[in-house]
Amino acid sequence: MERTVSFRLNGKAASVTADDERMLLWVLRSDLGLTGTKFGCGEGMCGACTVVVDGQAVRSCVTPLKDVAGKRVLTIEGLGGERLHAIQEAFLELHAFQCGYCTPGMIMTAHALLEKTKRPTREQIIAAMDDNLCRCGAHPRIVRAIEQAAGIGKAGAR
Ligand code: FES
Ligand code: FES
Repeated sequence: MERTVSFRLNGKAASVTADDERMLLWVLRSDLGLTGTKFGCGEGMCGACTVVVDGQAVRSCVTPLKDVAGKRVLTIEGLGGERLHAIQEAFLELHAFQCGYCTPGMIMTAHALLEKTKRPTREQIIAAMDDNLCRCGAHPRIVRAIEQAAGIGKAGAR
């Protein structure tokens, strides 16, 4: 059913008039031009499309627009300000990617984890990231980058 759905997007008010069953991924990418959120499998299996909704990492490819009505949606474009976010900086510093396609979903999943658990154990990081796939095999560096962003390891948290 077409209707106008209002929510907070990266800290600002947003309203989209569309079929309320339209998946959030396409609302973000096609309707709102936020192409940082990636389309991988389209079936909730890879994590490339992960965004944060009310503090939870969710798969936007299987999240209908109606499910975010009145909620806070954070995408990769909403991280950082004049400077990159600490997670983004750690990914860059530790080269926690190769092609980079999985990276926005990885960073948003890590962001949701660190918002809930400031200093996660390695096991907690691996568990939180387990369903985010990286076909380039960057997982070990991704885990180290999240540890670094959390202030575990050689650099402190910001
Ligand atoms: S594109 Fe959404 S989980 Fe793969
Ligand atoms: S860096 Fe290529 S898929 Fe992860």
